[in-house]
Amino acid sequence: MRWWDLDPVMELEDSLFPDDAWSRGMFWSELADARHPAATRHYVVAEETGGRVVGYAGLAAVAGTGDVQTIATARDQWGTGLGARLLRELLHQATAFECHEVLLEVRVDNVRAQRLYERFGFEPIGFRRGYYQPGNVDALVMRLADLTAAPADTRETPGLQGTETTHG
Ligand SMILES: CC(C)(COP(=O)(O)OP(=O)(O)OC[C@H]1O[C@@H](n2cnc3c(N)ncnc32)[C@H](O)[C@@H]1OP(=O)(O)O)[C@@H](O)C(=O)NCCC(=O)NCCS
Repeated sequence: MRWWDLDPVMELEDSLFPDDAWSRGMFWSELADARHPAATRHYVVAEETGGRVVGYAGLAAVAGTGDVQTIATARDQWGTGLGARLLRELLHQATAFECHEVLLEVRVDNVRAQRLYERFGFEPIGFRRGYYQPGNVDALVMRLADLTAAPADTRETPGLQGTETTHG
């Protein structure tokens, strides 16, 4: 993800996270910590062949612990395996950052995302009460301890024709 991706990213962000969308400034601040020798962030976008941004994801890595900062795919891509592909890319980068574990927070009511994470071996380890504001929705905290446990990507491949993951 580069600064010039932020217009389409913000459009997706606003529509996919209506209650707690990140601001443009939050993305700028994350990207400032990416793509340099001491980088602690890795952000990617997925583009269709024509260049439309259809998904994005970001990882933070501090002191051997990775954190999935965000992951999202356009609604018309849901179920095609794109979310899995983005997550696999973040986990690959977590290994490159020499992380021994990866954590994430997910809304307790976001069952779809939780299923995706479970499929990759993430396990629930606790709750953060009122983490999502406004609305006072709790976060489920999930942890992946074995970064080599990602499922084979045979299921996600068919839906990804014409979609390319661009490295941030
Ligand atoms: C959560 C999110 C990123 C998942 O993205 P996605 O592109 O739908 O993810 P996938 O297609 O890889 O997986 C979703 C489901 O489709 C299934 N699937 C994947 N490829 C498939 C295929 N080729 N055929 C049939 N089903 C398939 C997956 O197994 C998964 O099903 P499951 O829920 O039973 O495990 C997406 O729904 C999203 O952007 N949601 C809004 C933002 C959000 O909530 N982000 C997470 C914040 S924590």
